[in-house]
Amino acid sequence: MGLEANGGDKKQLKFLIYGRTGWIGGLLGKLCAEQGIQYEYGKGRLENRTSLESDIASVKPTHVFNAAGVTGRPNVDWCESHKLETIRTNVVGTLNLADVCLQNGLILINYATGCIFEYDSSHTIGSGIGFKEPDTPNFIGSFYSKTKAMVEDLLRNYENVCTLRVRMPISSDLSNPRNFITKIARYDKVVNIPNSMTILDELLPISIEMAKRNLTGIWNFTNPGVVSHNEILEMYREYVDPSFIWKNFTLEEQAKVIVAPRSNNELDASKLKEEFPQLLSIKDSLVKYVFEPNQKKVEA
Ligand SMILES: NC(=O)c1ccc[n+]([C@@H]2O[C@H](COP(=O)([O-])OP(=O)(O)OC[C@H]3O[C@@H](n4cnc5c(N)ncnc54)[C@H](OP(=O)(O)O)[C@@H]3O)[C@@H](O)[C@H]2O)c1
Repeated sequence: MGLEANGGDKKQLKFLIYGRTGWIGGLLGKLCAEQGIQYEYGKGRLENRTSLESDIASVKPTHVFNAAGVTGRPNVDWCESHKLETIRTNVVGTLNLADVCLQNGLILINYATGCIFEYDSSHTIGSGIGFKEPDTPNFIGSFYSKTKAMVEDLLRNYENVCTLRVRMPISSDLSNPRNFITKIARYDKVVNIPNSMTILDELLPISIEMAKRNLTGIWNFTNPGVVSHNEILEMYREYVDPSFIWKNFTLEEQAKVIVAPRSNNELDASKLKEEFPQLLSIKDSLVKYVFEPNQKKVEA
């Protein structure tokens, strides 16, 4: 079966999703239910090729979504001390799934990461010059990012894979500890660096649309522009908690409380914006999808 035979409007969609218990995978299932799209979660483990083949045989999907991966608990520092577990899922597992999908003529929408770049002399902070899709990753400071960059490079060879470079994902659910806003609001101290970020409420429906359009290749999957930690916390104070206060610290001070360095960067989202012209800038998307719905009603 050729790739072009799958999905599209001609055939009824059926999605096979990996990551049932995860944050992004959970949100994706809810969205499919809301949109009336048939879906099932994969039962297999990514490192077990036979289990993926049997999922595909029983579900008969039109598209496969991979929101499975190890991200580390409480954070990516976990990957520094669990390298084989990280390789097993994020490298062996992701490649297995891409390969099984290829052999079954299926597009794989893969939620990957944009945390494989860091500002450099050609992409300086505040310059507005972001990394583009063909750029070679330049951040391998953490084991998590290193393996994600290696896999992204290998996946370039798979014509059936749509790689979505997610960054610092944010959702309207401010009670979720995975949410970037919730994370930084709870930290004792935060750095203050502009970054590209992904508003899931706006972008996950776009990933479904990308499947419908059978799009493949690498995509910077962030809202256009950047926002800094302090700008987000100022919005949080304005919309959610007027008494909110926070403390900043420097990257050097941050380095003392984490194991592996973190990536800070701007990704150029113009390819995504061209495909989806309605895509909002990061600041407008934050207001529309996150802060306005969470705005505390002030008593008259
Ligand atoms: N959250 C972020 O900050 C962020 C940022 C950029 C990119 N991403 C990427 O987006 C993807 C999803 O992230 P998330 O935040 O939704 O992660 P998450 O909440 O940690 O969920 C990960 C999911 O992957 C599943 N999983 C782990 N190992 C597996 C394996 N070997 N086989 C099958 N399923 C497996 C987990 O299931 P079990 O519980 O059953 O193991 C869980 O459902 C990841 O690849 C992540 O790297 C996340």
